[in-house]
Amino acid sequence: MTREEFKVRILPDEVTVTAKTGDNLLEVAARGGLGVKSTCGGAGTCGRCLVQVRDGEPRVESQLNLSINQRKAGTVLACQTFVQGDLSISIPEESRLNRHQVLLGEGRAEAETETEVEDGLSAYSLEPLSRKFVVELTPPSLEDWTSDYCRLLAQLRQDSGITDLRVSFPVMGELADILREAGWKVTATLVNRGSFWEVIRVEPGSSPKPSLGIAVDIGTTTVVAALVDLATGKVLDRRGTYNRQATYGDDVISRIVHAVEEPSGLSELKTAVLDTINGLLKEIIAGNNLEAQDIHAMTVAGNTTMSHLFLGISPRYIRLEPYTPTLSKIPPLTAEKLGLLIHPQAGVFGFPSVASYVGGDIVAGVLATGLGDEEPMTLLVDIGTNGEMVLGNNQWMVTCACSAGPAFEGGGITHGMRAMRGAIERVSIDQFTWEVELSVVGGGRPAGICGSGLIDCLGQLKQAGIIDRAGKFTEKIKHRRLVERDGEKEFILAYAYQSGIGRDITISGNDIKNLIRSKGAVYAGIRSLLRLVELNVEAIDRVFIAGGFGNYLNIDQAIEIGLLPDLPREKYRFVGNTSLKGAIQALNSATAWEKVEQLMEGTTYLELSAGNLFLDEYVSALFLPHTDLSQFPSVGQICVS
Ligand code: FES
Repeated sequence: MTREEFKVRILPDEVTVTAKTGDNLLEVAARGGLGVKSTCGGAGTCGRCLVQVRDGEPRVESQLNLSINQRKAGTVLACQTFVQGDLSISIPEESRLNRHQVLLGEGRAEAETETEVEDGLSAYSLEPLSRKFVVELTPPSLEDWTSDYCRLLAQLRQDSGITDLRVSFPVMGELADILREAGWKVTATLVNRGSFWEVIRVEPGSSPKPSLGIAVDIGTTTVVAALVDLATGKVLDRRGTYNRQATYGDDVISRIVHAVEEPSGLSELKTAVLDTINGLLKEIIAGNNLEAQDIHAMTVAGNTTMSHLFLGISPRYIRLEPYTPTLSKIPPLTAEKLGLLIHPQAGVFGFPSVASYVGGDIVAGVLATGLGDEEPMTLLVDIGTNGEMVLGNNQWMVTCACSAGPAFEGGGITHGMRAMRGAIERVSIDQFTWEVELSVVGGGRPAGICGSGLIDCLGQLKQAGIIDRAGKFTEKIKHRRLVERDGEKEFILAYAYQSGIGRDITISGNDIKNLIRSKGAVYAGIRSLLRLVELNVEAIDRVFIAGGFGNYLNIDQAIEIGLLPDLPREKYRFVGNTSLKGAIQALNSATAWEKVEQLMEGTTYLELSAGNLFLDEYVSALFLPHTDLSQFPSVGQICVS
C-alpha cells in the first residue's frame, strides 16, 4: 500500500506539516504559518523562495539559475519542489516573510514589538459606529402590553436620540428572557447600518464590558489592525503582520492573475487575507483579555484589489482596459457574512475606492490628513509597488496612480528586500574614497537592501560620480568595489565577509535601470497631476509622504535622484500609515464615515494610460534627477558627466 500523506518538518521552527504527494514546499510552508518570499507568486522565475532540503528526496521541477554550490548544499526553489515522501527542510532568514517591519501607525515599529497606546481621536467628535446604552424599561402590565421589541426601541429612541432603530434577528430570539431576568434594565449595543441603527446585543443590567472596534489596513504586503475603545476613542493596541496572500505574489497584478487564472485562486486569496486578519484579531483578543463578542464594529481600508479579495469578489476587470472595479462603494456588512472572528453581527465598514488603482487606503489617507478639509494646496504621496498620489485642498482634489514597479519594495533588484530585519536602510558613500557606510534594520550584518537604502544608494552613487546622469557606471574610474560579473558592472555595498548571506551585496547596472524607471514613474505621476490642474510645483504648500516606505525615506536623496519635487524640505512631512489612521477616525465618528463617501465622490481621477501626458513626463524623468535640470535647482552638480 502506498502512503498518501507525508510529514514535512520545517527547521529551525520545528513545525511539522502534513502534505500530500505533489504539494509544493511554498504551500507547505504557508500551511505551517511560515511565510516564504515569492515575488513571482510561485511561477518559478524570481528565485526568492529558497529553502534547503535537509533530509528526504523531493521532486525538483526547476532550479532556475541556482549555482552548483547552492545545489550541493540542498538549496531548492520552494515553489518548484514537490513532496513525494517525508522531508525535513529549513527556511533561511533571507527567504522569510514573517519578520516584517510593519508600520503600525506613526513612526517605525516592528510587528513583534509592543506599541504605544495612542489617541485615536481626530478633528471629528466622538460618535462611534457602534454605541452602548444602558436602558431601564417600564415593565409591561395589563394596561401596557406593548411588545418587548417595541418597548426596548421606544426607550432606546428616547435615550439615544436615534430615531431609525431596528433589532437584529438573533437578539429578537433572546430578548424576552433577558429583559425579564435582568429586571428590565439592560445594556443595548447598537451598530450603524448606513441608513439605520441596529441593536445587535442586549446584556443584563449595566454591562461593565467595554464597547470595542477594530480598524484594519489591508496592505498588499502587510496588514495592521488597531483595537479602539469606542467609549473614549482611544487606541488600546495595534498589531501587524505580513499579508498571507504574499504566497501568491508580491504585487496586486500577480494576485489578480492568481485569482483569475487558478481554479480556486480567488478563494485561496480570500482565505489568506481573512486568516491574516483573524490571526491579528486572535492576538489582540488574547493579548487584551477580551472576548470576540465585545468587538462590535470594524473599518477596513485597502487598495481596490485588496478590497475585492477581502470580499471574495473577482478583481478580473481591474486589470483589463478600461480598468473597471466591480465595486467602488461597499455596502455595510456583518462580521458573520465575511467570516471575521468578532461579534457575528458586528458592522464591517469597507472604505470606498476612487478607481481601480486608487483605493480605500488612499481615501482613508485623505480623511486622516485632513487634505480635503483644509485650504493649503497639499500633495499626498504613497509609494509602494504602485505610486498613488492626491493633489488638492478643500476646494478640489485630483488623483492618479502609476505603476512604480516593485523596485522600491526590493523586487527586481539583485539584493533587494523589503524593509525588514537585515535590510540596508541607509547608505553613505565617501565621495573620495568610495568607502561605504551602511545602516541595517535591526543592526547586525546586512542580508539585502530595501527601498530607502536603494534611494540613498542611487543618490550617493550619483553624488560620488560612480554613475552618470543616465545611471550608467562611469568608465573612467577603477576601484575594487566596482566589479564585473557575467558581463554586467556591479558596485559592492558590502563584501561577502561583511554580509549576512556569505556573498557580496551589490547594486548592478540593471538594478539602477529598474530604480530609475520606478522613480521616473512616481515623479511623472506628480507632474501629470500638476499639469492637469495647470499648477506649478511651487503652488504646493505641503507634501505628505504616507505609507511604510515613506517613513524611512531620506528626502534629500529622494530629491537628488528626482523621485520627489525639489521643494523646500520643510514642506515635507511623514504622515505614517494614513490608511490605518483614517480607518480609526471613521470607526470613532459616524460623521467622518459619512465624509468618506463625499471625499471619494469629490476626487477626480486621472487615468495615466490615456493620452500622452504621463508618457512624455515619464520619458523626461528617466535621468538623474531629470532631463530638465531647471526643475531641480537645489540638486548639486554631479562629479562626472
Ligand atoms: Fe519560487 Fe518565485 S521562484 S516564488
